[in-house]
Amino acid sequence: MHKALTHQQYLELVAAMIEHDKHYYDENKPVISDYEYDQKMHELRHYEAKHPEHIHPDSPVQKVSESATQGFVQRDHLAPMMSLANTYSEEEVASFLQRVDKLLGTSNVAFCSELKMDGTAISLSYRKGKLVYGLTRGNGHKGDDVTQNLKTIPSIPLELHGHNWPDEMEIRGEIYLSLATFHKLNQEREEEGLELFANPRNAAAGSLKLLDPKLVARRHLQCVCYGIAYTEPPVATQHELHQTLRRWGLPTAEAHHLDVSSDLQGIMAFAKAIEGKRPHLPFEIDGIVIKVDELALHAKLGATGKTPRFAVAYKFAPEQARTKVLDITVQVGRSGVITPVAELEPVFLAGSTIARATLHNQEEVARKDIRIGDLVVIEKGGDVIPKVVSVDYAKRPSSSHPWRMPKACPACHTALVHREGEVAVRCPNPTCEGQRVRRIQYFASKHAMDIEHLGEKVAALLVDHGLVETPSDIYRLTETDLSQLEGFKEKSIQNLLTSINASRKPTLAQFIMGLGIKYVGRETAELLAERAHTIDALIAMGKEELAGMEGIGEKTAEAIFAYFRSAQNITELQRLLAAGVHPQAPKRKVAGHLFAGKTFVITGTLARHTRDEAMRLIKERGGHVSNSVSSKTDYLLLGEEPGSKYDKAKKLSVAILSEDDFETLL
Ligand code: IVH
Repeated sequence: MHKALTHQQYLELVAAMIEHDKHYYDENKPVISDYEYDQKMHELRHYEAKHPEHIHPDSPVQKVSESATQGFVQRDHLAPMMSLANTYSEEEVASFLQRVDKLLGTSNVAFCSELKMDGTAISLSYRKGKLVYGLTRGNGHKGDDVTQNLKTIPSIPLELHGHNWPDEMEIRGEIYLSLATFHKLNQEREEEGLELFANPRNAAAGSLKLLDPKLVARRHLQCVCYGIAYTEPPVATQHELHQTLRRWGLPTAEAHHLDVSSDLQGIMAFAKAIEGKRPHLPFEIDGIVIKVDELALHAKLGATGKTPRFAVAYKFAPEQARTKVLDITVQVGRSGVITPVAELEPVFLAGSTIARATLHNQEEVARKDIRIGDLVVIEKGGDVIPKVVSVDYAKRPSSSHPWRMPKACPACHTALVHREGEVAVRCPNPTCEGQRVRRIQYFASKHAMDIEHLGEKVAALLVDHGLVETPSDIYRLTETDLSQLEGFKEKSIQNLLTSINASRKPTLAQFIMGLGIKYVGRETAELLAERAHTIDALIAMGKEELAGMEGIGEKTAEAIFAYFRSAQNITELQRLLAAGVHPQAPKRKVAGHLFAGKTFVITGTLARHTRDEAMRLIKERGGHVSNSVSSKTDYLLLGEEPGSKYDKAKKLSVAILSEDDFETLL
């Protein structure tokens, strides 16, 4: 199965894997796929089993990685947090079952199979029913205390319900991001020119380790609990444990995502069924976890090194597809950064047709040596933008040659520059049409000025016709101007003018975001608006004052300061204000919550809250929940597959809240 490693190759692999662990655990930025990682770990383990005398003390096989994160206090776990052994085939699962049977000396052991949530592990310490702290896994014995961040997750109860909980225990679970939230987050980051998260798991792990809980709250992390440690379990089996945890008010997996079987066939049937559902689940999983159902047997089975013997993970193959690179094109971004893009033969992958994949930058293309005409494997892995994981070099046409970054900008043909020490290649022309289009598009985007009908196409037309150079020109457009544009008739002209007009009163945060200051995305814009209250106050702020704000780093503070010191930027800002754009100061927080005294009706299934939780959250804020919609209803909280209440609410023009809206208002 494996090519045997030489001692030298083993040492090299150990060094490489230490690096990969750093990328994965400390930076939340893996450079190889999980599958590749697991394969390499397998090779290490294989070698170490054969040559125990050569085992390197720093080998990742020997320890659970993840070093301490600066800014967090470390605490000891009362019971160690281990990891699971992985299996990839029915045979490997079969040998796990046999091993358990043999160790226990019986053959009718029941197994509880669960979803393997693809997030980051958490331990919640409850003492006398109260949450005292929550820790990341860390090195398995000590983790980072992320309690303040966990408190921003609505589903984690600060106090348990009921009363039959042990006085002191650790609840084990997973923190994750739903795919919808992840996509939204990455979309925002892309709009803001920030680096994208590779997948929901890295986004969740990264978010949990932000130093400002206010920023964490905006990430909408979720939690699911599946285990209990440091105490006698209060129930006999794993499947009952889920019910008990739920009764205590903890978030748990849905009942149809659990299965109890006593044989391989049953377990594999569940695995198949879940694999089939995987593309439709609202969150990422990377397999299932198979656990001995009877909890008393867990201790009896013990552990080998860092993995317990009572459970294994059965991992699914990543969602990948093979296709051909038809072309490699380049795109210019709003700050001039040039990104290579693979134009692919369209292929269906995990629910959608893929025709393009980002190649990030020229170094990435060179490292993987991706060429036009290559057959490549692409992977979605939860990300919005698919990426090329590998190239089938054997199938490469003999006529192919390495790709080279063009010398000139695709939009304005100015010679591109590659600054020393930077990965990015840029178009240095500040009047580049391509950059202008992107800047206008960004200015008009939803989280900035929110100008409906002004997307990429219209932005390109406006710039092409010389009607718009900078955002303030948008507010001077007339009917006559727009009538020159191809495809613009009376209706579309009015639509665009109306939405431009409607955008003249943005919130201060939207306005700041629209300026397109380096490193200032939605979150930072909101922080700045909250603190500064007016654009003049923001302009007047010193570097130290900016850097002193919670949630704003040195680099960002400098970029903001520099932005407002540029005469050109100030002129554009004044032109915007003179054109009748009036940013609105954020409302000072009033005592009492928006929900106080309001009547809610809930319909359909919510993705992230049970009905009870939603009711609790409303009531805690002084609102009421009613069962039927009437003229007295203030808000309808709308879940998936709503019933007739939805129709009635629409008829009565009741304000409708999506789950996202609801969370924002919370
Ligand atoms: S049980 C000894 N159950 O997978 C560890 N883990 O690869 C017992 N995970 O660290 C863990 N879903 O972060 C368990 N239903 C589930 C899980 C699960 C996801 C994660 C967890 C664990 C990792 C092991």
